[in-house]
Amino acid sequence: MCGIVGYIGHRPAYPILVKGLKRLEYRGYDSAGVALIDDAQHLNIYKTKGKVSDLEAFTQQKDTSGTIGIAHTRWATHGEPCTANAHPHYSSSGRLALIHNGIIENYAVLREKLQTKGYTFRSSTDTEVLVQLIEYIQDLNQLDLLTAVQLALQEVIGAYAIAILDREHPDQLIAARKSSPLVVGIGQGEFFLASDATPIVEYTDQVVYLDDGEIALIRRDQPLRIVDLNNVECPHEVKTVAMNLGQLEKGGFPHFMLKEIFEQPDCINDCMRGRVNVDGDNVVLSAVIDHKERLLNAKRFVIVACGTSWHAALIGKHLIESFCRIPVEVEYASEFRYRDPVITPDDVVIAISQSGETADTLAAVELAKSRGAFIYGICNAIGSSIPRATHTGSYIHVGPEIGVASTKAFTGQVTVLTMLALTLAREKQTIGQDEYLYIVRQLVRIPEKMKEVLLLNDRIAQLAKIFTYAHNFIYLGRGYSYPVALEGALKLKEISYIHAEGYPAAEMKHGPIALIDAEMPVVVIATQNGLYEKVLSNIQEIKARKGRVIALVTKGDTVVSQIADTCIELPETPECLEPLITTVPLQMLAYHIAVCKGMDVDQPRNLAKSVTVE
Ligand code: F6R
Repeated sequence: MCGIVGYIGHRPAYPILVKGLKRLEYRGYDSAGVALIDDAQHLNIYKTKGKVSDLEAFTQQKDTSGTIGIAHTRWATHGEPCTANAHPHYSSSGRLALIHNGIIENYAVLREKLQTKGYTFRSSTDTEVLVQLIEYIQDLNQLDLLTAVQLALQEVIGAYAIAILDREHPDQLIAARKSSPLVVGIGQGEFFLASDATPIVEYTDQVVYLDDGEIALIRRDQPLRIVDLNNVECPHEVKTVAMNLGQLEKGGFPHFMLKEIFEQPDCINDCMRGRVNVDGDNVVLSAVIDHKERLLNAKRFVIVACGTSWHAALIGKHLIESFCRIPVEVEYASEFRYRDPVITPDDVVIAISQSGETADTLAAVELAKSRGAFIYGICNAIGSSIPRATHTGSYIHVGPEIGVASTKAFTGQVTVLTMLALTLAREKQTIGQDEYLYIVRQLVRIPEKMKEVLLLNDRIAQLAKIFTYAHNFIYLGRGYSYPVALEGALKLKEISYIHAEGYPAAEMKHGPIALIDAEMPVVVIATQNGLYEKVLSNIQEIKARKGRVIALVTKGDTVVSQIADTCIELPETPECLEPLITTVPLQMLAYHIAVCKGMDVDQPRNLAKSVTVE
């Protein structure tokens, strides 16, 4: 949560910072701010409640000159979203400006200590404590800024990615990281700083990912220096990032979410590239082969994730247990990390995360690692914290996901989990050759079938208009479709603010059925698979209580159409691959309902894409 950007070089910093903030707005959009040092060594700070566009409007008549600056887009943790709580925060003397992503857990103690020394605070944030503390330590001991930052951070408990400007030193930027991501971009005579590489790739593909406990000393026309809190030099590797700028734009779509829904056929092809052979008769995930012994000898798999990634994990459990006959447990990372779980060196822990930065998932990985488990990451953001903390893993390769509601990452995660289950099952010989070949060949056909589903977009847009009245929705599915029901409900609630519940269809009788009346839309995944007859009975139960059924059915189904109010016909595919098909219309339904209701689809209220706080 919160996005931070910095620049030092020879160009005007302001346009680079603002453009960078727009790329990071997915991380939070409660308030935004910028600090610049101009040629006369004035430190100009502008901040405002609202989005980056509000900041732009606010700064229109202001002096935004300067070739060094830092900027921030906020997702509120401590202190309501308002101008006073927006970053950058500045020190008492007005000499230092600081931006922060993370949480300072012991801020109350530090604040009290500073208050007894006569410091006053302008905001109710945890961040302001940090900038005041740095200045206090600097002034008390007459230290240079780097040393003061090192000492201050030794007193801090919590997570941070910070960047600091000092009016007295307009040729230097200091940045530090612990548990929140930070990337330094190295250009020709200029440096960039950001929470991820997206604000940087336009200018340079050379980046350094800071590690926990590292501080970057970024000086004009001097080489990058990275040290730790004890001033020991940290060797750093410059990496080349490959990111196509087109991936960061809407490409003619009204929203990133719709663009990302439509990208899914290409994404799944990218995800399978080099892993499923061209004849479609073999799947190899290199990480599985490289760590075959460890994976095959695992007594148990535990999958940790949050939100949409947790829904993908539920599908992964079903796939791995069915094909590999290995017991799998799925855990919310936030629960797992705080309940002293039984984890042994015999376990393999799979961490699933689009951003690779989710604080709870990262903490779950560290905990499992400390208990000797082997950790496998399934992530999207290349070079992010989780892939760097795991022993091995597979990227989903679906490209940057910018819409806050996750779409293509979910289908990418399910695709990787399918490939993982198939690769392991083949190695373990728990799958017959015919079944294996059949599934692999059908997997290869998924992108083409997804394209067919995307043709339903206009029809689903029409259908969505009918349901804008609803205050509640129920989503039902069984087997592989139960996590899809959960995911469909999550998509609807997060972008349309309609309350929605996903349930295993048969569980409905144990409570939720009481909610059903003529007003209640019930989305049922009723494709023709082993559980079809059972789901059919569940639909009858809903209709008997006058619920309005929207059914996802297999093309050519003539039975459900007699009972349901609306049927969405989908191409036939094997049961284990159905989530890759059935999720897509549910994404479109949520999207169009939210658009009809006039919601901010890409930036729904209270949410942020990357949840880097617990
Ligand atoms: C929902 C959504 C969230 C994320 C969750 C985990 O659309 O995007 O529920 O899935 O915050 O994020 P990652 O996958 O980045 O760990």
